[in-house]
Amino acid sequence: MPPDLLAHALAAKGFMPEDEGALLHRHAAERAAAGPLLEVGTYCGKSAIYLGAAAQPVGGTVFTVDHHRGSEENQAGWEHHDPTLVDAGTGLMDTLPVFRRTIRAAGLEETVVAVVGRSTTVSKHWRIPLSLLFIDGGHAEEHAQNDYAGWAPWVVPGGLLVIHDVFPDPADGGQPPYHVFLRALRSGAFAEVETVGSMRVLRRKTGDAGHPVG
Ligand SMILES: C[S@@+](CC[C@H](N)C(=O)[O-])C[C@H]1O[C@@H](n2cnc3c(N)ncnc32)[C@H](O)[C@@H]1O
Repeated sequence: MPPDLLAHALAAKGFMPEDEGALLHRHAAERAAAGPLLEVGTYCGKSAIYLGAAAQPVGGTVFTVDHHRGSEENQAGWEHHDPTLVDAGTGLMDTLPVFRRTIRAAGLEETVVAVVGRSTTVSKHWRIPLSLLFIDGGHAEEHAQNDYAGWAPWVVPGGLLVIHDVFPDPADGGQPPYHVFLRALRSGAFAEVETVGSMRVLRRKTGDAGHPVG
């Protein structure tokens, strides 16, 4: 990771520890020349910088999908609410302006493409094979399962599926991302590659991009 981009990633608002970001960057760098990378869950762009830093040197592209209204835990009164991210005009969360400033400051505007919308709406129309998929969107069971079902089929054979906030022990965190991780393994379409912290990396073993993954 180039030191200047690492500094931008560390300074960005977000929830990704440096060791998990380094893992994401390393695997994204392995895949970036093979096709686009896609992240579900942009927030303010922290993880997008790790992905963008991997894609930029090879002329790659990162798509990052978010409705920018925040997850349940980002809403007022919840654990991860940041009042500076509320749009004064609407009273709603809006992380898009901070994301745009963050990506511009990092010099990644030509590499990181924001897709603004609900994950299920976008995935329903998506047809582009992905060399790496990073799932870090809504952490409720419904959203995590929809993200897997809607996006994982588009990972190419040999491509990577990376899942954030996987906690086998409920004492450490919510279970839906762990359930998705187990689903991916049980499907037989993905095999585990590496773990750092709550981040799990899997590789697609069977099927073609666009084929169901189970
Ligand atoms: C944990 S944050 C992403 C953090 C980011 N990956 C990082 O490391 O900086 C989750 C994001 O998912 C978005 N999100 C939640 N449910 C969504 C949905 N159904 N469709 C699109 N975005 C969603 C929220 O708006 C929030 O910004």
